[in-house]
Amino acid sequence: MRLIAKVVGVTAVAALALTGCGRAADSGSGGGSGSTGGSSAGFPANATIGVALPQKTSENWVLAEGLFNDGLKQAGFTPDVQFANGGVSEQQNQIQAMITKQAKVIVIGAIDGAQLGTQAKAAKDSGATVIAYDRLLKNTPDVDYYIAYDNRKVGQLQGQALLDGMKAKKPNGPYNIELFAGSPDDANAQVFFDGAMDVLKPKLDDGTLKVTSGQTSFNQVVTQGWKAENAQKRMDTLLSANYASATLDGVLSPNDTLARAIITSVKAGGKPIPIVTGQDSEVESVKSIMAGEQYSTINKDTRALVADTIKMVQALQKGQAPPPGINDTKQYNNGVKVVPAQLLTPVIVTKANAKEAYANDPTLLAIVNAAG
Ligand code: BGC
Repeated sequence: MRLIAKVVGVTAVAALALTGCGRAADSGSGGGSGSTGGSSAGFPANATIGVALPQKTSENWVLAEGLFNDGLKQAGFTPDVQFANGGVSEQQNQIQAMITKQAKVIVIGAIDGAQLGTQAKAAKDSGATVIAYDRLLKNTPDVDYYIAYDNRKVGQLQGQALLDGMKAKKPNGPYNIELFAGSPDDANAQVFFDGAMDVLKPKLDDGTLKVTSGQTSFNQVVTQGWKAENAQKRMDTLLSANYASATLDGVLSPNDTLARAIITSVKAGGKPIPIVTGQDSEVESVKSIMAGEQYSTINKDTRALVADTIKMVQALQKGQAPPPGINDTKQYNNGVKVVPAQLLTPVIVTKANAKEAYANDPTLLAIVNAAG
């Protein structure tokens, strides 16, 4: 939150906190009929369920906290939901504490997906099921399931939106673009980038697109810690080094927080705002899209992801393993095994389809309607 505050100001953070409550309250998440009678094959119906969340690097994590607490309670479980704002070792300690409390399922949104092998093993040794939530756990056999929006698809939608947005503004290329990726310790960052490159690479190869800075590899374009200030700084540097006279037509941004930082930089540099992509449908970005600044975002409804995770926990409680929602057993090789995954479908959102895309989200729909 502090980091976000540095970039977008206190008002936006207050809005984030408020909308966090509002959107959570709308959800009726869970899917829980509040099973209380105990179960034969799984584990007790009131068992402790640990949820280890990362840092509050985007609004989706803030929303998830309330949704998990309410939804797990409603379903009859005892939730233990923790943020690790202090970093990796804090998250390691939190997971260890969940094991000590005999959590039967530990749901993990990792800060660094490659740094939790010891804790995942300890969880499995204690008899718990380990679910990677939103972000995959890497290089460990001790992760049972993965649940997330289809990350590769997210990247592909972003790449396509970038092309579509630029074309709508200027029918013919070549287009000057810059690329941004997320934090390299988050397994998702590479997948989002690869998805976008599925769409952009052929256009780079045929000359329709030009990355003026020449920075096209994942390692050159990452944003450590998903921090807005890092993206803003990099954009400042890119602008002064490459766009004194050239026009910047588009920027691939992996999420909304970074999109707004990029737009802030461009505005400060006195340049016209290019087509900028995003992800997460954050309140401030939906406002920006409606105001004609940010071009696109992705709707990955946190309410649905949390509700489906709780359904997965309920299936495990009843002794159903694998849980019935698993729909991908190929894509997510974590370096040691292919993790069975339940993938949800992301939706691209621009000003043109915002009303339809947020039809079931009262908070975001109100923003769209207020913008006329
Ligand atoms: C999530 C994104 C989010 C990013 C930063 C990723 O792992 O999938 O939705 O924008 O983390 O918090």
